[in-house]
Amino acid sequence: MFCDYSGEGYVCRTSVRVGLWNRVLKMSTSAWSFALFLLLRGQFCCGNDESGSKPINPCCHYPCENWGVCMRIGLDDYDCDCTRTGYYGKNCSIPEFWSRIHDLLRPNPDVVNYILTHFKWLWDIVNATRLRDWLMGLVLTVRSDLIPNPPTYNTKYDYLNWEAYSNITFYTRILPPIPQDCPAPMGVKGKPELPDPDELANKLMLRRKFRPEPRGTNLMFGFFAQHFTHQFFKTNHKIGSEFTLALGHGVDAAHIYGYSMDRQLKLRLLKDGKLKYQVIDGEVYPPTVAETDVSMIYPPHVPEEQRLAIGEDRFGLLPGLTMYATLWLQIY
Ligand SMILES: *[C@@H]1O[C@H](CO)[C@@H](O)[C@H](O)[C@H]1NC(C)=O
Ligand SMILES: *[C@@H]1O[C@H](CO)[C@@H](O)[C@H](O)[C@H]1NC(C)=O
Ligand SMILES: *[C@@H]1O[C@H](CO)[C@@H](O)[C@H](O)[C@H]1NC(C)=O
Repeated sequence: MFCDYSGEGYVCRTSVRVGLWNRVLKMSTSAWSFALFLLLRGQFCCGNDESGSKPINPCCHYPCENWGVCMRIGLDDYDCDCTRTGYYGKNCSIPEFWSRIHDLLRPNPDVVNYILTHFKWLWDIVNATRLRDWLMGLVLTVRSDLIPNPPTYNTKYDYLNWEAYSNITFYTRILPPIPQDCPAPMGVKGKPELPDPDELANKLMLRRKFRPEPRGTNLMFGFFAQHFTHQFFKTNHKIGSEFTLALGHGVDAAHIYGYSMDRQLKLRLLKDGKLKYQVIDGEVYPPTVAETDVSMIYPPHVPEEQRLAIGEDRFGLLPGLTMYATLWLQIY
């Protein structure tokens, strides 16, 4: 439960009691519905489920705005916890004084981007003066402030909690999970069944027509991004595909040296700060798995001498990632 310790702290207690009360009410209503169902069975058939049966949890409508947290009160009322959202009112929709000022002064991202990417003469002047460091610091802050930084949830709880914030093994989410007693899987709207994920992916992601990259970049950049971000966006296959293995919480060069000291020592030459390598026809490549005893994942048909040992055990599966591992041998 989300507690505001700057307030009286009674928010938590009330909510716990409300939660218990809800459970008691829900148990008794479901007992009553069952008795009624037995009684009426065969006399009336299959009317609209919603009429007469228990009221829909109002939080299924997602009434709270601006990251307010919805709490069900009794059966058909709710309360939005607007703590620290900068807004107030029944639905956290009315800005407080400072939020109003902040919203007013907040630069439009497109305008900021236009100014930063045009007026070369202006930036040349800025670059030539002592203003540069101060202004670049400001530019970075302005840019990072454009990204909203809301409190986070995880799939387990529909309220803000410390674990969702701190447990980096969970994929975090910025919207609370749908309350469990909603009529539709998306709350109150949409079909009663979620679409098949494969069908959805095909409809939304499958490319039917070749479209050249609009900024004129190439495949190497895509692979570079994948290679680099794998340091912190990495699935923890031991626990499950929904968990992230972000042990270092940032840039830790695990994509080059591996996640453990053991792996790192097997990959390093331990001389001149370089990694182990092999030379084939005068060209430098990563060493083989057999040579280094580093575990890698390759399809069964890949011959022994083509199984290259790289920091990340799945990188051998994609040519672009192997390419970067090979290129980096010149530096690392
Ligand atoms: C709060 O949201 C609900 C549902 O969206 C709406 O019916 C109600 O009018 C809103 N109340 C206020 C005070 O904005
Ligand atoms: C900014 O100034 C530095 C020298 O102070 C120069 O090396 C750099 O190329 C300049 N940057 C641009 C984009 O002109
Ligand atoms: C993080 O979440 C995982 C998965 O639910 C759990 O096994 C683990 O104990 C949690 N760790 C902490 C520090 O809460």
